[in-house]
Amino acid sequence: MGSKKTAEKEVDIFDLQSIEGIGKATEEKLASAGITSVLDLAAATPRELMELGISAEKAEEFCLKARLILMESGFLDKEFIPASEVMERRKALQRLTTGSQSLDNMLGGGVETQAITELIGEFGCGKTQICHTLCVTAQLPADERGLEGTAIYIDTEATFRPERISQIAEARGLPPKKILDGIIFANVYNSSHLQLTIKELGRYIEKFKAKLVVVDSIISHFRAEYVGRGTLAERQQRLNDLLHRLLRMAQVHNIAVVVTNQVQANPDQFFGDPNKPSGGHILAHSSTYRIYIRRSANNTRLARIIDSPYHPANAEAYFKITEKGVEDLQEEK
Ligand code: GTP
Ligand code: MG
Repeated sequence: MGSKKTAEKEVDIFDLQSIEGIGKATEEKLASAGITSVLDLAAATPRELMELGISAEKAEEFCLKARLILMESGFLDKEFIPASEVMERRKALQRLTTGSQSLDNMLGGGVETQAITELIGEFGCGKTQICHTLCVTAQLPADERGLEGTAIYIDTEATFRPERISQIAEARGLPPKKILDGIIFANVYNSSHLQLTIKELGRYIEKFKAKLVVVDSIISHFRAEYVGRGTLAERQQRLNDLLHRLLRMAQVHNIAVVVTNQVQANPDQFFGDPNKPSGGHILAHSSTYRIYIRRSANNTRLARIIDSPYHPANAEAYFKITEKGVEDLQEEK
């Protein structure tokens, strides 16, 4: 994707200097934040530019100009679309099996495309194991309730295990090598790196024909880097930006996005579960589906949907983690 010819105007989207007021020095500043094309600039917020030492006035002007260029050249989709098109997009919605029928049922048929599904729970409850399983099932044909695509795995905790993928594939009668080839892996070292990776994601989704993006976990770097109350607002704003990008990506590319989240002690709670999801309201509002997972008796797992507008409150499902990854309890017997 270099330049695109349209009736109106031809534009080289990698030529930032074609925007009035942007010279070599500004271009370099922008590049240092991963903004290397007119598309990046159009998707950036003036605030991001101000962090690079660009004045508020200029920052706003550059972002606006980038959007205008894209609109004039036909690159930018119209922001307003007819409801009939919304309906068409909804029809394209697909569902991905988790490996457990009861978990799928709880989700109304599986993990949905065009949405963010958030897995929440304490360490060892099985979030990473579910993500591994989904990377395998995503590659299944549609009649086996897969998405017939590859998976992109963004790992912030260094817990991705290709050996485990092999094992799950083999136990499901699938060729391990082929399944591993269908998972594109990215290690992410800090929250800025995560932001950059997600900004670039659209390109990789297209390139690898991905149908699933996993971010395991969405919160860990933010929690580690932002300590103390004073920094919370900035942390939440960055998290918000990330989640909006992910949701837009899910909708535009019709892919499933699965993120994991930890729990933190909830000092307000005297009865019931003493934990609550991290990330506060930002995560609660951005995720389409939030699934809370707990370890239960006999090494089984209990999943429960929380705050979903579409599912019955507190819908529950039991499942198990075995050599096949995620599966139903009765399959074991
Ligand atoms: P954190 O990332 O620490 O928050 O935890 P998590 O929720 O990601 O937990 P994870 O998915 O790593 O689950 C770990 C649990 O999965 C282990 O305690 C085991 O019970 C189970 N598990 C992990 N690997 C295997 C495996 O190869 N076979 C089986 N049967 N179970 C496994
Ligand atoms: Mg994990």
